[in-house]
Amino acid sequence: MSFDAFGDFRMDGHVAIVTGGAQNIGEAFARTLSGAGAKVMIADLQGEKAEATAAKIQEETGNDVIGIGCNVTVQEDIDQCVNKTVEAFGGVSTLINNVGWGRAYDDPLAVPEEDMVESYKLNTLAAMKMTATCRPYLLKAKEAGMSASITNSGSLVGTMPAFDFIAYSAAKAAMNHMMLGLAHYFAREIRINTILIGTVITPGYAEAGLDEKAQYALAHPDNLTGRAGSPQDIANALLWLASPAGSWISGQSIQVSGGGKRVKLKPE
Ligand SMILES: NC(=O)c1ccc[n+]([C@@H]2O[C@H](COP(=O)([O-])OP(=O)(O)OC[C@H]3O[C@@H](n4cnc5c(N)ncnc54)[C@H](O)[C@@H]3O)[C@@H](O)[C@H]2O)c1
Repeated sequence: MSFDAFGDFRMDGHVAIVTGGAQNIGEAFARTLSGAGAKVMIADLQGEKAEATAAKIQEETGNDVIGIGCNVTVQEDIDQCVNKTVEAFGGVSTLINNVGWGRAYDDPLAVPEEDMVESYKLNTLAAMKMTATCRPYLLKAKEAGMSASITNSGSLVGTMPAFDFIAYSAAKAAMNHMMLGLAHYFAREIRINTILIGTVITPGYAEAGLDEKAQYALAHPDNLTGRAGSPQDIANALLWLASPAGSWISGQSIQVSGGGKRVKLKPE
């Protein structure tokens, strides 16, 4: 037997930065890339948790994982994270812009301007800053013959109306469009794709103001698979897009949402 169907999904020799990788979806991303052979840097606002998650994953996969405290909206922190990655692992071939957050508001027109701007900084601009800072290393990886890629955690509500999450959904829509533009700019050099993530129930939902009933309503029954997603559901798609297996895919926004549909109107 000489054919390995999983060979193109291997990430040996790759170096990945996963933002927001200390928990939930980002943690699954870090674990999956590490399990596929990549060296991984977890960059997260929660520095201690990033370190603990990195240590746990390294034990599980046997591959090098580092965690660092990093606020991806602050250029100084980003520089430190990227420099530390290059110092430890020799470069960056794979960037995963996973940080993002949003909250619910009853009245979309009453959302404070400040919240709209903060959401844009976190969900959109941070990914642009990370991309700009990693750019020389990603290009070097490409020159060395690797499949250099950026994959973003987008959201289903970045393409479907979500009046109750207006600050978040507008910022995710902007990130999606910005990344399509960058994929064109980096044509033939760096592949860029965005996963439009559906409902993956995490503790973040309660923090965003959604009770259990509201969480259930978001996930079920209006999607084709009839269940909410798990972080690993999203990580499986991530591995395809970020690894050489996805080397003919760029400039795409791919929905991984259980076949989600969510058109929500103002209650009668
Ligand atoms: N959970 C879902 O259902 C869902 C749905 C659609 C899209 N998404 C997107 O997927 C991504 C991950 O979602 P999650 O549910 O795992 O989120 P989460 O809130 O559980 O985890 C996000 C991580 O990012 C870190 N973080 C927050 N702000 C940061 C900053 N400024 N700098 C660095 N790190 C920061 C947090 O500490 C946390 O560890 C987000 O972009 C989110 O918008 C999630």
